[in-house]
Amino acid sequence: MTLELTDATRLLTEPTRQKLSEVVLDSEFELFAPYIAAINELKEDLNAIVLAHNYMTPEIYHGVADLVGDSLSLAYMAAETDADIIVMAGVHFMAETAKLVAPDKTVLIPDLRAGCSLADSITAADIELLRQAYPGAPVVTYVNTSAQVKAASDICCTSGNAVEVVESLGADRVIFLPDEYLGKWVATQTDVEIVLWNGHCEVHERFTGEELRSYRQADPAVKIIAHPECPPDVLAEADYVGSTSGMQTYVEDIQPARVVMITECSMSDNVAVNNPDVEFVRPCNLCPHMKRISLENILTSLQTMTHRVEIPSEVAGDARRAVERMLAVGAGSSR
Ligand code: 13P
Ligand code: SF4
Repeated sequence: MTLELTDATRLLTEPTRQKLSEVVLDSEFELFAPYIAAINELKEDLNAIVLAHNYMTPEIYHGVADLVGDSLSLAYMAAETDADIIVMAGVHFMAETAKLVAPDKTVLIPDLRAGCSLADSITAADIELLRQAYPGAPVVTYVNTSAQVKAASDICCTSGNAVEVVESLGADRVIFLPDEYLGKWVATQTDVEIVLWNGHCEVHERFTGEELRSYRQADPAVKIIAHPECPPDVLAEADYVGSTSGMQTYVEDIQPARVVMITECSMSDNVAVNNPDVEFVRPCNLCPHMKRISLENILTSLQTMTHRVEIPSEVAGDARRAVERMLAVGAGSSR
């Protein structure tokens, strides 16, 4: 059902329209406005919050999100909120992580198909084989995985704290999975030996070093900042490598005249809104999983309390331990 724009909703959403005027056309915003108003009203009635990942589209990120951030900060926010209901505007592993750290809350994901190529690249059985091949080496697992995989691990990490987590273990060698490129990047930042897996992010693996060199050739002063899920030849060309929140903080602190964010498409729009003096070169690689989330399905999710995220009891305890052990290490560059 399409919601109609009324004078009342137009008035209520006017500040958001103005804020987004550089990244969302007015004609497009008119379609979003009734959903933004309805979601914000329902959240209040239900004591619900929307947690949004940095890759959400601007109308979600700036229109209905109560808190925004990278995977790590979203996990802390879920653990700390007083709300009864958390809607995860992100992908499934983020909703599972929220449920692990906030087991008594209702956690909703608006579209169950919002997956992740990294989460699909490894199973708990693979971890058992790796443990046999590298006896005694602790397993550090990127949060971009299922609860089953987390439960088979010693500790989780995100792109925001991977180095700190690896070094917190005091081991000479760790098994790091599933993201090969993140693991390779961590290996450049530490003396700990890193055993890799061959999972990749389908969005970040598409960037090339050649592409980055062409941006620099066009403007030698441009700042290029990249997510560590990119291949090593891409990261070698970057001025800064960090989590999505780390990249945002870099732009806010440095205020470069021109920047290229080597990551998912919507990031640049979201960061541009609060940094009007920075020009963004916008390479556009979309994450099809993140893009499953829309204002429409966030509203439906709150109206129908779907889809509730539940973690099978046989894995919840061990998966929670791996996530909470990570949270105890600290927030790295994410907060
Ligand atoms: P961040 O934790 O850096 O936000 O990354 C999550 C992700 O899925 C990147 O592709
Ligand atoms: Fe997964 Fe890559 Fe999408 Fe992030 S951008 S959710 S790592 S597929």
